[in-house]
Amino acid sequence: MDDLPEKLVNKHRGPRASVSAEAFGTWNQKGAFQPKVIAKTQEQKTAISQKLNLSFMFSALDDKDKGVVIDAMIEHQVKVNEVVIKEGDQGDCLYVVDSGNLMCTKVFPGSDEPTFLTRYQSGDAFGELALLYNAPRAATITANDDCLLWKLDRETFNHIVKDAASRKREKYEKFLDTVSVFSTMEPYERAKLADAFKEVAVKAGDYIIRENEDGNDLYLLQEGKAHATKTIEADKPPQKVMDYKTGDVFGERALIKNEPRAANIIADTDCLLVSMDRHSVKRLLGPLEDLLMRNFDLYEKFTSKA
Ligand code: CMP
Ligand code: CMP
Repeated sequence: MDDLPEKLVNKHRGPRASVSAEAFGTWNQKGAFQPKVIAKTQEQKTAISQKLNLSFMFSALDDKDKGVVIDAMIEHQVKVNEVVIKEGDQGDCLYVVDSGNLMCTKVFPGSDEPTFLTRYQSGDAFGELALLYNAPRAATITANDDCLLWKLDRETFNHIVKDAASRKREKYEKFLDTVSVFSTMEPYERAKLADAFKEVAVKAGDYIIRENEDGNDLYLLQEGKAHATKTIEADKPPQKVMDYKTGDVFGERALIKNEPRAANIIADTDCLLVSMDRHSVKRLLGPLEDLLMRNFDLYEKFTSKA
């Protein structure tokens, strides 16, 4: 398969192709890898490292692999209005934004006009799809102002980043389809959530969240059942206020309201969860905040009298 999975680029088009990590052309296969070392100052290395830590795609790399990526990166300066990636072109690198802003647009079938898709800022990475799926560039990226970018070549990406990144996106593809709160998201944006996921396993009876503690993570229940309890009256045990099943989301309230945890979440069975930290939630789920707040009225019915 040489084409980008349609599912990722346009949810309005026909039947969906699945995302296959096996779909690499022969020229994309692993051979003897010679790490590239592009001379850099220590300051530049530190700056890149900080950006990579912000970028979900690189977050799982260990220090050694991160070092190989940093050594291979090439500085790439662009001027305002410059087109960095053109839809339909062949692609042989991805970019990480050091400074400046860029926008991503795409011309969808049946339209002559580009549709605005997203904006990129410091710490964001783009241009990975052509490398992950051996496909032409799926969108156009244009600089909104003068930008400093770091460019990573296909070979280093393939050897160091690609397997983990494509495995992770594939792994969560089906699960993400079951999370109703994400159903309004662009398929590409939804697939990208997987980059930020951390897997959490708990045993039946474990507390996933404790009432009144500080909270930094939102959770999605992948497998198992759980419930929420809350202290309604100070001298009485917490009462059950909610049940959770596969595809449900909880732990959003503390992040959105900047308040301590408002309930306990306890596993009824062994559970597999994924968590997203505050930074990822803000960056990737910002546009969904209204949807994530849809249960807040319901919560009010169980206001603590403690
Ligand atoms: P690539 O196809 O290599 O080049 C264009 C990039 O635009 C693409 O990788 C993604 O990094 C980015 N992009 C952002 N939003 C979308 C989208 N909805 N569909 C496809 N690509 C997108
Ligand atoms: P948070 O306050 O971050 O952590 C506890 C979570 O329990 C909370 O987010 C909600 O996702 C969930 N919850 C379920 N029922 C209630 C409720 N009645 N009041 C508050 N939070 C609730």
